Amino acid sequence: MSDAALQAIAELKPLLGDRIVTSEAVREHHSRDTSRLKPHLPDAVAFPQCEEEVQAIVRACAAHGVPVVPFGAGSSMEGHTIPVRGGISLDTRDMNRVVEVKAEDFLAVVQPGVTRKQLNTHLRDTGLMFSVDPGADASIGGMASTRGSGTTAVRYGTMRENVLALRVVTPDGTVIRTGSRARKSSTGYDLTHLFVGAEGTLGVITEVTVRLHPIPEAVSSAICHFESVRSAVEAVIATVQYGIPVARVEFLDEVAIAATNSYSNLDLNVAPTLFFEFHGTPNWVAEQARIAEEIARDCGGADFRWSTDPEERSRLWQARHDIFWATKAIKPGYDIYTGDICVPISQLADSIIAARDDIDASPLTGQIIGHVGDGNYHTAYLIDPDNPEDLAEAERLADRLVERALAVGGTASGEHGIGTGKLKFMRQEHGEAIDLMKRIKAALDPAGIMNPGKMGQGG
Ligand code: LAC
Ligand code: ZN
Repeated sequence: MSDAALQAIAELKPLLGDRIVTSEAVREHHSRDTSRLKPHLPDAVAFPQCEEEVQAIVRACAAHGVPVVPFGAGSSMEGHTIPVRGGISLDTRDMNRVVEVKAEDFLAVVQPGVTRKQLNTHLRDTGLMFSVDPGADASIGGMASTRGSGTTAVRYGTMRENVLALRVVTPDGTVIRTGSRARKSSTGYDLTHLFVGAEGTLGVITEVTVRLHPIPEAVSSAICHFESVRSAVEAVIATVQYGIPVARVEFLDEVAIAATNSYSNLDLNVAPTLFFEFHGTPNWVAEQARIAEEIARDCGGADFRWSTDPEERSRLWQARHDIFWATKAIKPGYDIYTGDICVPISQLADSIIAARDDIDASPLTGQIIGHVGDGNYHTAYLIDPDNPEDLAEAERLADRLVERALAVGGTASGEHGIGTGKLKFMRQEHGEAIDLMKRIKAALDPAGIMNPGKMGQGG
């Protein structure tokens, strides 16, 4: 451990006591995320309980030039929380209080370690929900930091649309407020959205004000399978064009369906498939499903199965959320290398078909799933962790995916973010704007202590 880190830890010990930890096991847990990216140990892990403690940690680290890497639930997928230069992993686990729910204003104020499921449980009696659902029970601070999204973004938006205001400890230890409780504002630079998606490179989020939505009176789900990827995507585009406000529409390819059948004990037809969810009044969800079925049939969809049964629905969505684990189970002991791009919806069918062709022409096994209403999809390639050729091949496939997305006006990541995994595409996607991003980073964090080696420095 460096002398600087030792000094910072020694200075924080009187304040944090046993909430600053240097044990191997705890450091190990904070050395990785859910990606296959190479772990790196932090020098210590701090568990602040309030904003003042976050401030003290950041100040001590700033004084000694020690990196600070914010850590939420550790469910990120591109290495965001890996302390690539050591330092202190700042775990917001204990900052897990719902500070306020203002139902009349459709908002909640939470500490960053509150998880999305925890908030929804807390909201149970209010008739309101926090909509953003990335699958994992991620922390809301982490979701804000990564501009998270997931299955419901097509209807309710990503974290970009659902964060109204923040409190942030900036790299010099100052606390700032951004945004307000108003639904809109035309004052000032939009700092809220500078920190949303900054992946902990500009400061530590200590409080998030999120938008809430009414829980729909009725929810229904449907499954439909298609003879081809193209016809499935055409059905999605036509449904959205018709103005059906689908709450979720998810694509799963044949490999993903086969994996989910076996992992989640389902018996779905092994074909390109769409999972739908509709929100509204009972009549309105029935009508939405009826129109979606008609459209799906016109596009060659078969066996449209519609259900309002909550148990069946939750089984289906649990299976969808478990796909990562279902895919891993195809080849026990293998790692998953994920791709994640977003393209204009007009390009989606070609993009998915090219990605599938690439996998079929490769020795690797892989599947494709997508939040297709947004033009966002993921690939997952199974790689033998002991075979560097597998890793190189997965990298080649994922790179081709991004190259094609950028060529049609898309982005290198629709949902999973940059972390260390996607840094290499930043300049290609953003051009000279990358230099402006670096200037912002240097202005806010001149010593480069906030999640160093990531966005704003590399790329
Ligand atoms: C999903 C995560 C991996 O869509 O983004 O399941
Ligand atoms: Zn996703």
